Amino acid sequence: QIAQKVRTQNLGQVLTEAATFYKQQLREHPHAIAYLKRRGLSGDIAQRFGLGFAPFEPTLSSVFDDYNESSSLLDAGLCKQREGQNRRYDFFRERIMFPIRNTKGQIIGFGGRVLDKSEPKYLNSPETPLFQKGQELYGLFEARSAISQQQYALIVEGYMDVVALAQAGLANAVATLGTATSTAHVQKLFRFTDTIVFSFDGDSAGRKAAWRAMINALPLATDTRTIKFLFLPPEHDPDTFVREKGADAFAAEVQTAMTLSQFLLFGLNQAAPDGSAEARARQLHLAKPLLQSLPNGALRTHIIQALAAQLNSTPSDVSEYCELNAALRP
Ligand code: CTP
Ligand code: MN
Ligand code: MN
Ligand code: MN
Ligand code: MN
Repeated sequence: QIAQKVRTQNLGQVLTEAATFYKQQLREHPHAIAYLKRRGLSGDIAQRFGLGFAPFEPTLSSVFDDYNESSSLLDAGLCKQREGQNRRYDFFRERIMFPIRNTKGQIIGFGGRVLDKSEPKYLNSPETPLFQKGQELYGLFEARSAISQQQYALIVEGYMDVVALAQAGLANAVATLGTATSTAHVQKLFRFTDTIVFSFDGDSAGRKAAWRAMINALPLATDTRTIKFLFLPPEHDPDTFVREKGADAFAAEVQTAMTLSQFLLFGLNQAAPDGSAEARARQLHLAKPLLQSLPNGALRTHIIQALAAQLNSTPSDVSEYCELNAALRP
């Protein structure tokens, strides 16, 4: 256990030193600075998020030439070594670097974006004892005070969305790390606020991600909490929207965001819209696991009523079909 502690301490130190190296390399690579400028970011915001650059040269491995240090680079996932070979190479090369912090502000990993159209567009640090992607939210440390001030948090898809929104004055956004929004993510964010607004990309992938996020958020949708969904025009993500239309327009979109109950009912209806008996049965079938994961409360009662109306049924028939009898469910 002590060995584990020493290991994660080393890991934290090597990640911090790497972040310092990436920041310094950003200052020394005008083409990387130019990329951030092209994306509309100021030096001030780059500094606030600790953005950096991983160049082709010099490599991190060459800077950390001490053997023990470079072993920690392997542990931190910043360096790779091929089976049976001594040579180590950097995991991130020629990428803009986004340090990912835990809620204590410690750096636990990085996201890295290419400067051109090459693939993969983003790379994330591999998971380590310090870094579990299904748990962490990019920007949460930076967003904490704005979240409590504004009394709500935004969940967006991307690093750039978080940074661009913050630059526009909407500093209460966080992003998942290229993974679906998990129940653990939502749980973590609800420690800071009781209102969460999902704002995913306007494309079909973003809308599908919103539906999955809703499913994972359902167990946490108690009556004292608010969960909303903001759908941007298909050609936009929060970054492009806020840059083109401004912070006030984005805030206005937040005001008109769909509630969880609206989205749930709308989504069910979209899945089987034709009003036939078969379509209604299908909606009920799809609703069953969703209603079962909702906490037993007033919100669930109202959703059952609204669904019954949508299906030309009765709340008690819906409850019965979905096996929501509270007495039978501990
Ligand atoms: N992502 C990833 N790996 C990829 C592509 C995307 O991990 N190959 C993750 C990243 O966290 C990214 C998010 O999914 O920020 C959203 O993807 P996308 O909308 O494609 O990227 P943007 O964040 O809009 O990136 P940019 O604006 O820089 O093009
Ligand atoms: Mn260069
Ligand atoms: Mn997208
Ligand atoms: Mn996007
Ligand atoms: Mn984008």
